[in-house]
Amino acid sequence: MEFSKHTPHSLCAFLFIFSSLQSILSDSGTVGINYGRVADNLPSPPQVVKLLKAQNVTKVKLYDTDSAVLSAFSGSGISLTVALPNEQLSSAAASQSFTDKWVQSNILTHHPKTLIEAIAVGNEVFADTKNTTPFLVPAMKNVHASLVKYDVASSIKVSSPVALSALQTSYPSSSGSFKTELIEPVIKPMLSFLKQTGSYLMVNAYPFFAYIANTDTISLDYALLRNNDGNKDTNNGLVYKSLFEAQIDAVFAAMNALGFNDVKLVVTETGWPSKGDENEVGASDGNAAAYNGNLVRRVLTGGGTPLRPDQPLNVYLFALFNEDQKPGPTSERNYGLFYPNQQKVYDIPLTVEGLNAAPNMANGSKSQVVAPPPISGGGDFSASKVGQTWCVANDKAGEEKLQDALDYACGEGGADCRPIQPGATCYNPNTLEAHASYAINSYYQKKSRGSGTCDFGGAAYVVTQSPKFGSCEFPTGN
Ligand SMILES: *[C@@H]1O[C@H](CO)[C@@H](O)[C@H](O)[C@H]1NC(C)=O
Ligand SMILES: *[C@@H]1O[C@H](CO)[C@@H](O)[C@H](O)[C@H]1NC(C)=O
Repeated sequence: MEFSKHTPHSLCAFLFIFSSLQSILSDSGTVGINYGRVADNLPSPPQVVKLLKAQNVTKVKLYDTDSAVLSAFSGSGISLTVALPNEQLSSAAASQSFTDKWVQSNILTHHPKTLIEAIAVGNEVFADTKNTTPFLVPAMKNVHASLVKYDVASSIKVSSPVALSALQTSYPSSSGSFKTELIEPVIKPMLSFLKQTGSYLMVNAYPFFAYIANTDTISLDYALLRNNDGNKDTNNGLVYKSLFEAQIDAVFAAMNALGFNDVKLVVTETGWPSKGDENEVGASDGNAAAYNGNLVRRVLTGGGTPLRPDQPLNVYLFALFNEDQKPGPTSERNYGLFYPNQQKVYDIPLTVEGLNAAPNMANGSKSQVVAPPPISGGGDFSASKVGQTWCVANDKAGEEKLQDALDYACGEGGADCRPIQPGATCYNPNTLEAHASYAINSYYQKKSRGSGTCDFGGAAYVVTQSPKFGSCEFPTGN
């Protein structure tokens, strides 16, 4: 856009702001959140709805049709994707009388006061060890037939979230293809069903898994949607600026290869853990904030992927809360944007208004999300004056070592551990990593930052930027 020399600056500024806002709004995608409940310490559903509304979240995905949860969303204006769990697939596939009853008691009793826009029939069914794959498409068809019967099929879509493990090939993206043994039995019938019913494919995509399996070949910046040189797909010359887009285009290529170029896609899960085990390289608060923050920016500033540039990206972040009852590696329990006490694990914008209020946040700008610290990713590090140092816990050292370091520092070591007692200034976040960091740093400062005083058998390391855990201030000398 060009302006005449005489255009007043204020008008220029106004038009500029207006036009950039327009471009954000015109073709932007949507950001929703997965509300998983595999935990014993979450707030009540009404409290959760209040939290979501305070964040201006308008789309939420659930893993079931829990009646108390669905009731809590009544009148909230939030659109829901609900789920028929894998355990019910065989019954749903067997008869429409089952899905008629299921739709009556789980959907019609709530919709449309509780706004349900889609039903996920099963979740990552091809990866289900109980062999539920043969039931999937018949179950989807029966659920849809029931929605038609009760006259709600035009407002409620039926689909099923597919994990990226359904792909045989995903690199380069243009060669993306589904696993051969899935194509005829289930992929083709499912895509035909989605096409016929005007629905879309649901895809769960985690660049984190690809990154931890290939840290030697995939750059962290590429995985986190930070500025990077990009990767060129040598088959078609398209350049990918992020692993996320490359993964989504591998799915599009796999669909195109079967002639389903016109079926749309929604990313029903994506995320990055704020903590992980020692072998889960890259799991940290800073990286999780960078991934999710940059992804939200990417989605809300519009445009699709290189293969489908005109289709906005619609995503659901995984997940709303850290879920303490999830089995598996540490990362599984640390995907949340929020702790169960409703405090943020890290701060990222989730809406266009949020992005505009914090235009440079979370895209890798130094003040918010810096390169990962040397070993682990504790907290959020802000800039400091030259020469100051702090000592923080290395969460990769494992719980036992961190606990030992905490016990030693607060005991024999003589650190000042009053601030991490319940109710005191540094009690929150109430995590072992945060408390150990506080205690270890206190010990290190007490020892005047002498060499060897920030080690704790590998459980600690020196940083040159002030550690930030919540609003807790870490003292330093110098
Ligand atoms: C939510 O939207 C309201 C009204 O537009 C706005 O005042 C508020 O700042 C928003 N909150 C967040 C967290 O974006
Ligand atoms: C972050 O985004 C802003 C706005 O697009 C840009 O000016 C800035 O250079 C970016 N910073 C980094 C480190 O990518």
